Amino acid sequence: MGTRRVLVTGCSSGIGLAVAARLAKDELRRFKVVATMRDLRKRGPLEKAAGDSLNKTLEIKELDACCEESIRECVNSLPDRRVDVLVNNAGVGMIGPLECQSIAAMKELFDTNFFGLARLVKELLPDMKRRQSGHIVVMSSVMGIQGLLFNDVYSASKFAVEGFCESLAVQAMKFNIKTTLVEPGPVVTEFERKVYEEAEKMDLSGADEETAKIFREIYLPYSKKVFASLGQTPEEVAEQTVKVITAKEPPLRHQTNRLYMPMTALKHADPTGRLPLDTFYKMIFKHDNVFNATLGVLRLLQRRTGKKQ
Ligand SMILES: NC(=O)c1ccc[n+]([C@@H]2O[C@H](COP(=O)([O-])OP(=O)(O)OC[C@H]3O[C@@H](n4cnc5c(N)ncnc54)[C@H](OP(=O)(O)O)[C@@H]3O)[C@@H](O)[C@H]2O)c1
Repeated sequence: MGTRRVLVTGCSSGIGLAVAARLAKDELRRFKVVATMRDLRKRGPLEKAAGDSLNKTLEIKELDACCEESIRECVNSLPDRRVDVLVNNAGVGMIGPLECQSIAAMKELFDTNFFGLARLVKELLPDMKRRQSGHIVVMSSVMGIQGLLFNDVYSASKFAVEGFCESLAVQAMKFNIKTTLVEPGPVVTEFERKVYEEAEKMDLSGADEETAKIFREIYLPYSKKVFASLGQTPEEVAEQTVKVITAKEPPLRHQTNRLYMPMTALKHADPTGRLPLDTFYKMIFKHDNVFNATLGVLRLLQRRTGKKQ
């Protein structure tokens, strides 16, 4: 297989930045990376991470996932419009009680997380079909498999992404195009910082007192503990994304965090949905001591696994 051109979206920080830099520095020089971001003024950290690969195996271009013209302009600027691998990574988060979130904000989130993907695939799929080759890699989330308290809208957007890819994958296969959903658990990036910052200043007056209390006093501290115990680095997710891209037979789904798998396995263990529902309910509202202790054990395991890698 010759050099493959990989277009990555959302490379100003976090996972997108790490994936772009990792691919560009590939020892076997298997990739030409088109690292895109919506605001080129934020290119500094990527330039630094790319180091010597900048303008050699990595070029930076503007692309706003919410704007069809911006996507077309970027793709048209590439030789033969050729993109062998799309890494659809751009995404935004949202947490909090539903009563405190506006429909406009929910639509905005879907515009990036779901319609951003739809726009990119619409632009690239016809060329991939003509060439009878390509790989669509999508940064989904474990929340695209299992919904989580106070993540209603974000999780819905990732479910949309999962349904879209699962449906598309069958047709894509007929044209020799591969589809992969990368499903990270918590990853310590700007994403986490941004959602907590917004949560801290969120106006909770739209919610009743009990809901506001559950969000502030139970959900937020728990969620922070989960990030601290189970959180991966963007580099770890990037490493696994590269494995998926270079696999001979890429999977449709790839979860990056083994420690998170028991949570998602509950869903498949009981088609009625009762098992995950009861487990999450008890974990959050009844057995918080057990939950905290489990997180402590998982933190240890995470450190050990990290050392072995
Ligand atoms: N962090 C986690 O815990 C986690 C877990 C599972 C899945 N994910 C997914 O991983 C992906 C990357 O997230 P991250 O953790 O790396 O967060 P991040 O550091 O906040 O990066 C998000 C990237 O998306 C970009 N972006 C947002 N809207 C865009 C748009 N309209 N057009 C182009 N780029 C846009 C951001 O650009 P700006 O700098 O311009 O805003 C930024 O570069 C997301 O899809 C997220 O849902 C994250």
